[in-house]
Amino acid sequence: PSEKGWLVSQIYQFQGRWHTEALLQGILTCQKHFEAKDSDIILVTNPKSGTTWLKSLLFALINRHKFPVSSGDHPLLVTNPHLLVPFMEGVYYESPDFDFSLLPFPRLMNTHISHLSLPESVKSSSCKIVYCCRNPKDMFVSLWHFGKKLAPQETADYPIEKAVEAFCQGKFIGGPFWDHVLEYWYESRKNPNKVLFVTYEELKKQTGDMVKRMAEFLGCGFTAEEEVSEIVNLCSFESLSSLEINRQGKLPNGIEINAFFRKGETGGWRDTLSESLADAIDRTTEEKFGSSDNVQKIKQ
Ligand code: A3P
Repeated sequence: PSEKGWLVSQIYQFQGRWHTEALLQGILTCQKHFEAKDSDIILVTNPKSGTTWLKSLLFALINRHKFPVSSGDHPLLVTNPHLLVPFMEGVYYESPDFDFSLLPFPRLMNTHISHLSLPESVKSSSCKIVYCCRNPKDMFVSLWHFGKKLAPQETADYPIEKAVEAFCQGKFIGGPFWDHVLEYWYESRKNPNKVLFVTYEELKKQTGDMVKRMAEFLGCGFTAEEEVSEIVNLCSFESLSSLEINRQGKLPNGIEINAFFRKGETGGWRDTLSESLADAIDRTTEEKFGSSDNVQKIKQ
């Protein structure tokens, strides 16, 4: 089934999730053609949950011997992270014949695909998944501003109240947000060697420790502490967002690169959401996640 959506004229439901037509096509091609390898690393997020940041951190981390961060000509200084780490369903939509086997090893890719809809080989191989979750209010607000920047005319007449309602009902790009998070959360509990679950908020609070945790999980732990801080600094919001290559230009799909760098904060939802809209999202979070201490933290 399809429905009129915010930002796009129609969104389509497939395997319990709502997608734009383009991404749905990409997901179907991905399910059909993508062959995972045991050495693959797949970064999974809901949109606007820290994908750009994680792409940079993971790229710098796994390639640190090939591209020493201190060298001054690191790829992240001259190329936007989205061009270094391919977005699986996006690439398959734009170029259905794209040959993923040509990527350098270990292959690092990202996707927003739900666990249920992942290509079979991703589930059956020993590839690793790093999942990053973000506070749903910050994620919603980030996507709201992203849409307004990219398509000011199409989004102008759509009230935020209606968008929050659609978000809470799950009828939002990639939604329901909560089901996506829960699926990967359970997988990370069931199979901790395969799925590492991290949050944008803990990455913000203790970036270095989280980089070390991701390195351990990927089997490439650190010996030198200064390597960790070099990666943290290279990939910080301040550093990446001030680079000329991230301030201008467009991705091949037409998205303006600087739209991926807005504020890079936690709790910034307060500037955009009224109390009642924040309450509506909190209520949905409690309905979906229960009211544990962790869930109380999400309300902050
Ligand atoms: P805000 O809109 O709240 O500022 P994604 O990369 O998944 O599209 O998410 C984009 C969000 O991540 C935006 O959030 C953006 O500012 C933030 N972001 C981008 N690069 C970042 C970085 N290096 N560190 C922290 N946050 C970053």
